[in-house]
Amino acid sequence: MNQKNLIIAFGGVSPEHEVSVLTAMQVFSALENSSYNLVPLYITKSGHWLGGDALSNLENYKDLNTLESMCYPVSFTKSEMGITHLTEQGNFGLFKKPISVPVYAVVCAFHGSEGENGAFQGICEQYNIPYTGSGVLASSVGMDKVKAKQLCEANQIPVTSSLDFYESDWEQHQETILNEAALLEFPLVVKPSSLGSSIGVKKVDTKEELIEAVEIAFRYDAHLLVEVAINPLMEINCSVLGTSETCRASVCERPLGSMETLSFEDKYQRGGGAEKGMASADRVIPADISPELTDQIRSMAVHTFKTFDASGVARLDFLVNADTEEVYFNEINTIPGSFSFYLWEKSDLSFAGLVNELIDIALKKHQAKNGRIRSYETNLLSEKAATGIKGLKGSK
Ligand SMILES: Nc1ncnc2c1ncn2[C@@H]1O[C@H](COP(=O)(O)OP(=O)(O)O)[C@@H](O)[C@H]1O
Ligand SMILES: [Mg+2]
Repeated sequence: MNQKNLIIAFGGVSPEHEVSVLTAMQVFSALENSSYNLVPLYITKSGHWLGGDALSNLENYKDLNTLESMCYPVSFTKSEMGITHLTEQGNFGLFKKPISVPVYAVVCAFHGSEGENGAFQGICEQYNIPYTGSGVLASSVGMDKVKAKQLCEANQIPVTSSLDFYESDWEQHQETILNEAALLEFPLVVKPSSLGSSIGVKKVDTKEELIEAVEIAFRYDAHLLVEVAINPLMEINCSVLGTSETCRASVCERPLGSMETLSFEDKYQRGGGAEKGMASADRVIPADISPELTDQIRSMAVHTFKTFDASGVARLDFLVNADTEEVYFNEINTIPGSFSFYLWEKSDLSFAGLVNELIDIALKKHQAKNGRIRSYETNLLSEKAATGIKGLKGSK
């Protein structure tokens, strides 16, 4: 029997490692009775790629050292026929064959860092395998808050006024930066450009607080963003599913923070129990806002998804001034926690239905890529062709 091997890729060197484990476990349980053979690909906190049956059981993650000792190293390999496999690595004697399965598709269940910023997606492109979610471009621009804002500005998507600078700018021109920041007017928000989970994000009211927040944020990132704080703030998120050609928006949610800034603790550690993943965070669904504001945010979400050339499922986060109802793009999460399933459930799409749709989109994108001419038979370096290339040592 030729079962299709669906690789569930998760974990990674990321502050959101545990959230990714939860998303992956949700995928395992949703597809338990599907026709796929579910194969875990776990990237440890130190970046090792592991395989093994123990990885599909949440209980085993309570003790990571024991879990790792129950697993074996894996990597992608290409067979002579050009088919990508997930293959056990190591020194094998004559009598043992490494475990190796041909890859049908990869479900990317990472959150944050290299699993979400295009690096892992680039590996899948290199191995020419279908993978869920956005491609390299949307993933990497989406992870960079400064570049994401610039892309939005160029496409008439409102963003808060801000300035950005690198550590070397701060060292050399601190006074100028502080003056420019003061012109934006306090309160301001300081953020590392490409982190997440609210790490290093701080609202500041004075120059002294700004200096302190900047020094702290530089521990996490060499590029910072300082932007005008929206006050009074209402956060509204909306998920979009599809491709940049055809996509649709979910209902909106209003996440509730215990402070004005949603912290890592609010998002993942407070109440609810970790097993429920992102669904456990406090939120109002559908968001308790007017139909007009709902429509405006849903259409901004679709426009932004298309602008980034995103695919699969993304969550678009907006900052709303609660008094004026002015809406600003805050960020795009190209692999949202728990794939934002709790927003799609309200639109009658189950978790399993959502993952199946993500796989479908991945397969179609892969097919479209392979349907186009991507290489040329002529060897431009062959003796005959190379005569035309001037200035090359050895060319005539
Ligand atoms: N301009 C802003 N004004 C007011 N609050 C903000 C602003 N930007 C971010 N925040 C608050 O900080 C939180 C984290 O910022 P965000 O940009 O979403 O970073 P992260 O990628 O870490 O989630 C937001 O959820 C929001 O509560
Ligand atoms: Mg956020």
